[in-house]
Amino acid sequence: MRHWGMFVLVIFILYESLEKVNVSAQSGFIKIRGVQFTLNGSPYYANGFNAYWLMSVASDPSQRNKVSSTFQEAVSSGLTISRTWAFSDGGNQPLQSSPGVYNEQMFQGLDFVVNEARRQGIKLILSLVNNHGDFGGKAQYVKWAREKGQTISADDDFYTNSVVKEFYKNHVKTILSRQNSINGIEYKSDPTIMAWELINEPRCASDSSGKTMQAWIKEMASYLKSMDKEHLLEVGLEGFYGESAPKDKQFNLNFKHGTDFISHNQFPEIDFTTIHSYPDQCSHLQTTGISSHIQDSQTVLGKPMLVAEFGWNKSRIDTNTRDQLIGTVYSGIYSSARRGGAAAGGLIWQLLASGQDSFRDGYETVLSQSPSTAGVIVGQSRSLTQLRQTLARRRNIEKGK
Ligand SMILES: *[C@@H]1O[C@H](CO)[C@@H](O)[C@H](O)[C@H]1NC(C)=O
Ligand SMILES: *[C@@H]1O[C@H](CO)[C@@H](O)[C@H](O)[C@H]1NC(C)=O
Repeated sequence: MRHWGMFVLVIFILYESLEKVNVSAQSGFIKIRGVQFTLNGSPYYANGFNAYWLMSVASDPSQRNKVSSTFQEAVSSGLTISRTWAFSDGGNQPLQSSPGVYNEQMFQGLDFVVNEARRQGIKLILSLVNNHGDFGGKAQYVKWAREKGQTISADDDFYTNSVVKEFYKNHVKTILSRQNSINGIEYKSDPTIMAWELINEPRCASDSSGKTMQAWIKEMASYLKSMDKEHLLEVGLEGFYGESAPKDKQFNLNFKHGTDFISHNQFPEIDFTTIHSYPDQCSHLQTTGISSHIQDSQTVLGKPMLVAEFGWNKSRIDTNTRDQLIGTVYSGIYSSARRGGAAAGGLIWQLLASGQDSFRDGYETVLSQSPSTAGVIVGQSRSLTQLRQTLARRRNIEKGK
């Protein structure tokens, strides 16, 4: 109860300082100008959150209140971008149960998520497949192709086998051309969707030169953009450097992931860059100092950057330390944004609704139970909102001249 009281206090303070989200003012497509995102012509900076579980939870109508309440708590803390999965391949709760065969109940769950985001003024980043095995991913695609008689030796053939690539393209097409069963809007025409993501955390250890990944990204990015010129596109990269920036190999662990932050983001179809930062996980990009990626996005690539995932496992550190570390990432983003730099926002991993204990992974935050963390988030949201308002005012003055 004490925590709940503090949460209410934090929200009250937020209300005093942040304007309420004007849902209709949020309703345009997010665009790009130089190294900035824009919304309705004005620079757009925003914090966000990851919640991979939204579709699968919403596929059960009796659980949909968890999506709604998570969105409400997020918006109250100024979190207005949500990154989530638009895939679930095979397994016991599939969206795609076999190649090209879709489960309508899951799709209606995703429809609910998209419509609810629209109603609450949240922008979505939808990821289209997983490199990892959770919810199917590249291993499931490869398995499907084997079942169709393809000779495939390893999961990394996901990136080269022509049958697998057709399965993937068909999934892209199915998602983009989905007509929302709640509001009738085709996904590819819905500005609620901020961006598509080709694949969550692509890796191809079998070709550490990065060339296999480079070819796959080129093919899939142009395929997707041939179907949808309105939405932004990003790869889903974690931020590992490759051959094109060997000086930065020190950020990588053994340099064996077969991806390249610079060259993979250079395609004109890729609108912005991403990094995933888990300083406490040795299998991930261990960087709290995000300035090198921000700098490269700005000067080498000329594109905005989102810290699309970051977090710390709270079973290893106390809340205070964790809040401070989150604040460090936020201030790196803010100090770039304030100077017109490429960093545009950070998306914490991960937000849960209360009662979702089975989804806990150590990295979760339930805003209504974490007043101090909510406070850090609110502070950053307030700073970014003020920056947006200042820049929008400046732009209106310039337009009026
Ligand atoms: C919300 O935004 C719309 C579109 O920009 C604008 O016309 C409207 O006046 C705004 N409403 C409020 C309450 O600010
Ligand atoms: C977080 O840490 C706990 C305790 O060490 C561990 O059991 C859990 O697997 C970790 N979470 C992740 C996602 O690695």
